[in-house]
Amino acid sequence: MKQVLATVISNNEAMPGVYLTWLESPHIASMAEPGQFVMVCCGKDTLLRRPFSIHQVNGDKTSIALLFQVVGQGTNWLAQRKPGNRIDLLGPLGNGYSINPASRNLLLVGGGIGVAPLPFLAHIAMERNCSITMLLGASTATQLCPNHLLPSTVNCITVTDDGTTGKKGFITDLLPEYIDWADQIFACGPNPMYRAMAKMPELKGKPVQISLEVRMGCGFGLCYGCTVKTKTGLKQVCKDGPLFELDEILWDEFVDV
Ligand SMILES: Cc1cc2nc3c(=O)[nH]c(=O)nc-3n(C[C@H](O)[C@H](O)[C@H](O)COP(=O)(O)OP(=O)(O)OC[C@H]3O[C@@H](n4cnc5c(N)ncnc54)[C@H](O)[C@@H]3O)c2cc1C
Ligand code: FES
Repeated sequence: MKQVLATVISNNEAMPGVYLTWLESPHIASMAEPGQFVMVCCGKDTLLRRPFSIHQVNGDKTSIALLFQVVGQGTNWLAQRKPGNRIDLLGPLGNGYSINPASRNLLLVGGGIGVAPLPFLAHIAMERNCSITMLLGASTATQLCPNHLLPSTVNCITVTDDGTTGKKGFITDLLPEYIDWADQIFACGPNPMYRAMAKMPELKGKPVQISLEVRMGCGFGLCYGCTVKTKTGLKQVCKDGPLFELDEILWDEFVDV
C-alpha cells in the first residue's frame, strides 16, 4: 500500500449518476489485483477517505479505472474532477478475489454498482482460459452497466427490478439456474443481496466469495471501524477483506451501512 497522487486522465458519466474515472497511477495499476480497492481523498471538505473498488487496469498497467455512483459529498466531488486534476489515493488495499487453479467455470454476480470490480476479475479469469458467465442486476435498464465496459467475450445475463431490460426480478431469482454450472461464484453487490444468497439452500457448500460493503475510516487496519463478526472471530473488512466467503459472515449480527 502506498499514498500516491494520481492524475485524472478522463472522467465521464457512464450511466445516469454513475461515473467512470481513469487515473494515471503506475504504482497502483502494477500492483492491483481484482477485488482490491483504493481509498480516495475526496477534497478538503470530506474528512475521511472513501473506498472504491478497482474497476479496471489498462493493458500496460499504468492506469486504473473507478466506476462509482454519486451518493453523497465525496462521490459528488469525485464526479466533478477534470482531466489533469491530481487525486490523493491510498492503495491497492485489501485482499483480492481468489481463483482456484482447478476452477474452469466462473459465475460473476453483480448487483447494481456492485458490477464495479467484476470486469477486472473477468479479464484476469479470461487470461486463465476460464469460462465466465456474468449475472448483472439493476433497478432499471439505464442503471445496467453498458456493454462497452464489459469484456465482449463474456456471457452476460441481465435482470432488472422493473423488467425494462433482461428478465424481470432480482438477481437472486436467476442465480439458482447457474449454481450447478459454476465451480466458483464471485459476487459484489448490496448487503441485502448477500443476505438473500446466504439463505439459499442451493448455495450451501458452494465456494462463494463476496465483497463486503461497510463504512471505512482508515482503510488499512488502524481504526477498527470496519470490524465484522465472522465464524472465526472478529475481522477487519479493510485488511482481512473486503473479500470473504459468504458463509463465513455471521449475518444475524451484521449491521448494514
Ligand atoms: C471496499 C469497498 C469498495 C467500494 N467500491 C465502490 C465502487 O467501486 N463504486 C461505488 O460507487 N461505491 C463503492 N463503494 C461504496 C462507496 O465507498 C460509498 O458510496 C462512498 O464512500 C460514499 O461516499 P459519499 O461521501 O459520496 O457519501 P456519504 O455522504 O458518505 O454517504 C451517502 C450514502 O452512501 C452510503 N455509504 C457511505 N459509505 C458507504 C460505504 N463504504 N459502503 C456503502 N455505502 C456507503 C451512506 O450510508 C449514505 O447512504 C465501496 C465501498 C467499499 C467498502
Ligand atoms: S477501516 Fe479502519 S480498520 Fe478498517
